[in-house]
Amino acid sequence: MKIIACYSNKGGVGKTAASVNLAYAFAAAGRRTLLCDLDPQGASSFYFRVKPSKKLTEARFFKDVEQFTKAIRGSDYDNLDILPANMSFRDFDVFLARMRNPRSRLKKALKGVKADYDVILLDCPPNISTLSENVFRAADAIVVPVIPTTLSQRTFEQLTGFFRDHDLPLKKLHGFFSMVQGVKALHGETIAEMTRTYRKRFMKTQIPFASDIERMGVHRAPVMATAPASAASKAYRALYEEVERRVKGA
Ligand SMILES: Nc1ncnc2c1ncn2[C@@H]1O[C@H](COP(=O)(O)OP(=O)(O)OP(=O)(O)O)[C@@H](O)[C@H]1O
Ligand SMILES: [Mg+2]
Repeated sequence: MKIIACYSNKGGVGKTAASVNLAYAFAAAGRRTLLCDLDPQGASSFYFRVKPSKKLTEARFFKDVEQFTKAIRGSDYDNLDILPANMSFRDFDVFLARMRNPRSRLKKALKGVKADYDVILLDCPPNISTLSENVFRAADAIVVPVIPTTLSQRTFEQLTGFFRDHDLPLKKLHGFFSMVQGVKALHGETIAEMTRTYRKRFMKTQIPFASDIERMGVHRAPVMATAPASAASKAYRALYEEVERRVKGA
């Protein structure tokens, strides 16, 4: 079983859009897939039309395998289950701070469902918190969307700095450029510079800025399901293939 996190310390960069489409792609390839929505905003649960489980409080999430398993819902797609988020997830950090080994609790919680899945995807909230540290430790691969602009570049630097300072393995980080607009010179320049600086830490696939992806909120389904021939879906398929290759070697 492999754990793949879609993570960035920056908000609104395409983590949820990537989580939803990667989860769909892994499931469509026949992998038993669980998408865990760790963000109290509940966006990926919303995209899959799954209602939050009120019973799964932050305490039960980390301590009660039975309740964790009970909160998992099926989706409209074969091989794909969803663990929906709820508002209590906003208290993860307060709760973790009171626990022993507060940085390795997520790994432990996911062990409880390990046997049921080939892939677990984590849609993460945007920050560097104790929960994020749990994600860094639990995940085999951390997929990081980066909009090619100056501020996103800075955020990625902060993330690699954090990994160095905390002796976390940089090789877990797999960046990709997100919401790329070919007409913008700054996007081209930032991509060139970051690719030079970070080399293998970035995947080749770029996800273009596409209204089909924005429309996922209207359809409440992955773009790969509603518009499989679109440029956006082709890009997510390429991303899936690249992530799959990288995860195999993780
Ligand atoms: N490639 C894209 N092209 C156009 N719009 C996009 C693209 N990717 C995401 N979006 C839109 O941008 C917004 C933010 O995307 P998304 O929710 O995936 O980001 P996020 O990183 O998960 O945000 P948050 O930090 O709030 O969790 C959404 O409205 C989404 O529809
Ligand atoms: Mg999100």
